Amino acid sequence: MGHGLLKGKRGIISGALNEQSIAWKVAELAHAEGARFVLTNAPVAMRMGEIDKLAQATQAVILPADATKDEDLQQLFTGAQEQLGGRIDFVLHSIGMSPNVRKGKTYDDVNYEWYKQTLDISAMSLHRMLAAAVKTDALSDWASVVALTYIAAQRVFPGYGDMADAKALLESIARSWGYHLGISKKVRVNTVSQSPTMTTAGSGIKGFGGFYGFAEEMSPLGNAPAVDCANYCITLFSDLTKYVTMQNLFHDGGFSSSGVTPQVMEKFMKE
Ligand SMILES: NC(=O)c1ccc[n+]([C@@H]2O[C@H](COP(=O)([O-])OP(=O)(O)OC[C@H]3O[C@@H](n4cnc5c(N)ncnc54)[C@H](O)[C@@H]3O)[C@@H](O)[C@H]2O)c1
Repeated sequence: MGHGLLKGKRGIISGALNEQSIAWKVAELAHAEGARFVLTNAPVAMRMGEIDKLAQATQAVILPADATKDEDLQQLFTGAQEQLGGRIDFVLHSIGMSPNVRKGKTYDDVNYEWYKQTLDISAMSLHRMLAAAVKTDALSDWASVVALTYIAAQRVFPGYGDMADAKALLESIARSWGYHLGISKKVRVNTVSQSPTMTTAGSGIKGFGGFYGFAEEMSPLGNAPAVDCANYCITLFSDLTKYVTMQNLFHDGGFSSSGVTPQVMEKFMKE
């Protein structure tokens, strides 16, 4: 049951591919909290078909947009305002893909064309989105933008490959736009750094089971599930967090502040 936290708000939610997607849970919860929104994803993801189910359940319209194409993004922001009847109050950037990771290219042997694609899809897309929002004057005052990230931006997780660089760039872009949009429109921009989560993007990482298990044992609260990440995003879209901006916010059960735990130590103790 909702609390009306997003009552009357209009939003754009990207990245819902299937029921495992973090964005899928955000859409379900945003609907329950009273928001109206459009769903968007790359045209190629539409063909997989599942997003229709979510659109029906949340009474949302789907506006396809490739997040690496400026024209698509401008149409998205224009179309969303037409569909929803006014400026946009919240935007979820939940987009990530590395051709290198997907095709098993390790960090020390990347294909540079794919590397450019990784950065474009997973990081520059946030820059492009917000540039499109500015060009179409689509954001309302005090709007909230959240992008999802991972702690590989700060620390090395070898299997995460060039996505680590993309996440570092994404976090920097969020901070920079947070400044510019804060000055011009009181808009806040944050990244949420989520625990490893069993989704299509997550399980594409080599050795994901190891990442997941290690983080689980290193986090006092355990790994944060997708639905709790979605709940956190909802608070950031709500008016309860109006002065939180330009932050990278860890949503990871305490992983980022833990040095070691007895469960992990146990694996190395001889007696
Ligand atoms: N799953 C994890 O372990 C984890 C942990 C921390 C952060 N994240 C981040 O959360 C976000 C969402 O990922 P997820 O885990 O829900 O997986 P997911 O695979 O369900 O979502 C990724 C989405 O990106 C979309 N996408 C890819 N290329 C696109 C393009 N060119 N234009 C528009 N959309 C495009 C995909 O269609 C998909 O919907 C990503 O940024 C991911 O890096 C995931």
